[in-house]
Amino acid sequence: MSRKRTVVLISGRGSNMTALIAAASDPTYPAEIVGVISDRANAAGLGIAQSRGIATKVIQRADHPNKDAYDAAIDAALTGFGADIVALAGYMRILGRGLVEKWQGRMVNIHPALLPAFKGLDTHARAIRAGVRIHGCSVHFVTSEMDDGPIIAQAAVPVMVGDNEDTLAARVLKVEHRLYPLALGLVAEGKARMEKGHTVLAHFADDADNATSVVMAPDPLREETDLEQLARITP
Ligand code: GRF
Repeated sequence: MSRKRTVVLISGRGSNMTALIAAASDPTYPAEIVGVISDRANAAGLGIAQSRGIATKVIQRADHPNKDAYDAAIDAALTGFGADIVALAGYMRILGRGLVEKWQGRMVNIHPALLPAFKGLDTHARAIRAGVRIHGCSVHFVTSEMDDGPIIAQAAVPVMVGDNEDTLAARVLKVEHRLYPLALGLVAEGKARMEKGHTVLAHFADDADNATSVVMAPDPLREETDLEQLARITP
């Protein structure tokens, strides 16, 4: 099986990118990370990628006369890397419709909320304000509507009494780092595909031993450390 060449787009810290690089350091993982593109020259993730020997490229909006030219530069860089899959990981720009449609089904994103709830920014503060008891993250195929594409996989965490935005963000981020490698792996293997605006998932019957799952759900009453044990298969 040839591993899918994956380019990660970031804007900042790059912790999800780091999780994808770590997963892909296993030669049996179905995707390899061949490049990282940032729209910000000072993104901390760039240094991390370089330290792992991964090629990086900075493509700043300000260096391009308009959005179409910027999108064209991104597309050219993706083609230059020979990308099969594009993984947005904390990439803070909205890509244009043409670019998104060209890569549709091959471009994924992680969003720090259980979509379709809390699209957009400040998801953790909004979840606390809304009083939800369960929060989490979603990996989805990218479409031209922001945070709206078909969901591939989700992980849930409890919202605990006394949580603030930071404690909740940290709990979600921990499961993001497990969920994104899982979801990218499914896409790279062809087990999660986008068809007619929906995600089609392969059946997992033959994967039971690996406990491959598209849902990670905690028992809200247990300690967080137990979450590692709680990934489970749902039909
Ligand atoms: C993550 O919470 C991700 O879900 C969101 O932006 C944040 C990026 O963090 N889209 P990092 O750069 O991966 O550390």
